[in-house]
Amino acid sequence: RNKLSIAIDGPAAAGKSTVAKIIAEHYAYIYIDTGAMYRALTYKAIQANINLHDEDAVADILSNIHIELKPNEEGQIVLVNGEDVTEVIRTNEVTNQVSIVAMHPKVRREMLVRQRQLAADGGVVMDGRDIGTHVLPNAELKIFLKASVEERALRRYEENKLKGFDTDLDKLKQEIANRDKLDSEREIAPLKKAEDAIEIDTTSLTIEGVVRKIEDYIEERL
Ligand code: C5P
Repeated sequence: RNKLSIAIDGPAAAGKSTVAKIIAEHYAYIYIDTGAMYRALTYKAIQANINLHDEDAVADILSNIHIELKPNEEGQIVLVNGEDVTEVIRTNEVTNQVSIVAMHPKVRREMLVRQRQLAADGGVVMDGRDIGTHVLPNAELKIFLKASVEERALRRYEENKLKGFDTDLDKLKQEIANRDKLDSEREIAPLKKAEDAIEIDTTSLTIEGVVRKIEDYIEERL
């Protein structure tokens, strides 16, 4: 059987990582969460106390960090220069600033090189914003997941509740919309459906339903 490269793009909190992880496991493919790479850089840049709008300063930090994505039972752990940052890259502080870091052309150029290296042998499910358009333009399957902002905020809200903390639904909605706007309007590699991507609106679908649809497309290509 062919080892496919699968690109899954879409706006914030559309369920990309959840379905990407499941699919990668089913096919014994490598799961690559490119958002985690931008988050890891953002975390280190905040820690270094630099101005996140300063492209050279941010790019300099990136050149000094080694980011590893390692599979484990829960999906994946993220290491930066050996430090486990899996949890800390999900804080609001990082989430609400990552789109600034991700705007810089020098940062994106370097991330693109690293992401292509990770995907070089095929058999990958990569999720992000620009995978189908820039990182893996030749991927055998490109999926663009979308859902209404209300639905995405609600999913995050429920997820947070399960983890034991209460969040303000309206604030979540606003933060998600704001991140989508920054990601869609940036100059380099904005969030955009690739010409040849298959769009799936997940608003009224279950996780299993989305996985099933994508796996039907995979089976057609194996
Ligand atoms: O996927 P996740 O929400 O973790 O991504 C965090 C942020 O990283 C996005 O909002 C975006 O600014 C940036 N990103 C990107 N290109 C990617 C993946 C993520 O610009 N391929």
